[in-house]
Amino acid sequence: MTEPVRSPILETLAGKALSPPPVWLMRQAGRYLPEYRALRAEKGSFLNLVYDSDAACEITLQPIRRFGFDAAILFSDILIVPHAMGQDLRFAEGEGPRLSPRLADATLESLTPARHHYQAIWDTVRKVRSALAPEKALLGFAGSPYTVATYMVAGQGSKDQADTRIMAHADPARFNALIEAITLETIDYLAGQVEAGADALMLFDSWSGSLSPSGFERHVIAPTARIVSSLRARFPHTPIIGFPRGAGEKAPAYARETGVSALAIDESTDLAWVVANTPETLPLQGNLDPMALKAGGEALTCELRRILDIMAGRPHILNLGHGIDRFTPIAHVEQLLATLRGR
Ligand code: CP3
Repeated sequence: MTEPVRSPILETLAGKALSPPPVWLMRQAGRYLPEYRALRAEKGSFLNLVYDSDAACEITLQPIRRFGFDAAILFSDILIVPHAMGQDLRFAEGEGPRLSPRLADATLESLTPARHHYQAIWDTVRKVRSALAPEKALLGFAGSPYTVATYMVAGQGSKDQADTRIMAHADPARFNALIEAITLETIDYLAGQVEAGADALMLFDSWSGSLSPSGFERHVIAPTARIVSSLRARFPHTPIIGFPRGAGEKAPAYARETGVSALAIDESTDLAWVVANTPETLPLQGNLDPMALKAGGEALTCELRRILDIMAGRPHILNLGHGIDRFTPIAHVEQLLATLRGR
């Protein structure tokens, strides 16, 4: 009998502390890679890439081929869910995403769902899983309901998520209905990713840091707990990584109350404090400053060593605290991996 293939990421998510830890980088497929820029130029737009499952599969694999990361993350975007819920989605060059009509001006009921958009994403997952070496984990993902809601309400990225936070206070019934609709949609979308072959899932809550403690309980923890329990009931062996960016001192409660399998930590949070204030069996992911990676050299090596020291003996997936900056030199990613792997 042959030994089952061990995936360092899945072993870590199951609670094992590996040295060196496995590694992948948020936004590891993207504009800092010349091979990404070439394919994007050929296909014309970001969304053309995402909805072309052959192109999206190729882009998902690019950083694995170049760097040998331990996980591939599905190439897609958190805004596919609003698109499937019926908002028009555009990525204007140099402007970031635009959703219309924005829910500050229109009701959810006025949208016509376009759930066929999910099919291409699930096809990408299937294609990547069959092309990927068995020891590499494939991560599916979605945005968390609160973060997705901030884009749906404002129609674009917003500085302090003010329109959304005002709606949550001024019209709680309407806001709760929106969070509930996104929650149910996200469960189906992620279930489809697991069925197509995703080994683990990640929930990105990029703007959770803009909420008050009570708002965080209601709009981050509660819907995330619902997503986790519903997926866990169907897929008990699929780990879920939660990323409540900016949660700070609320991160331990998030981990405890949502039931996520692992906690991703942003670079502004004191990692040693998180280690001390969460169960020692809880795997942690992060939290290298993307600007230390961009800076490279001695500063990068120092930051990496500091994180590895703090995390020694703890299940840890090395990652950035947020997405890689598009002007990060490839040589710095190579330096990070060589230092990590002791070469
Ligand atoms: O991590 C990965 O490599 C997987 C793919 C991925 C993308 N977006 C591809 C992408 C993932 C996991 C995301 C998540 C995402 N998307 C988040 C949560 C994480 C975070 O960064 O906080 C958010 C908030 C979005 C929404 C989004 N998508 C914005 C605000 C933008 C424009 C800003 C930017 O960086 O251009 C995007 C576009 C986007 N998503 C690109 C990529 C590679 C750039 C598209 C391009 O111009 O080629």
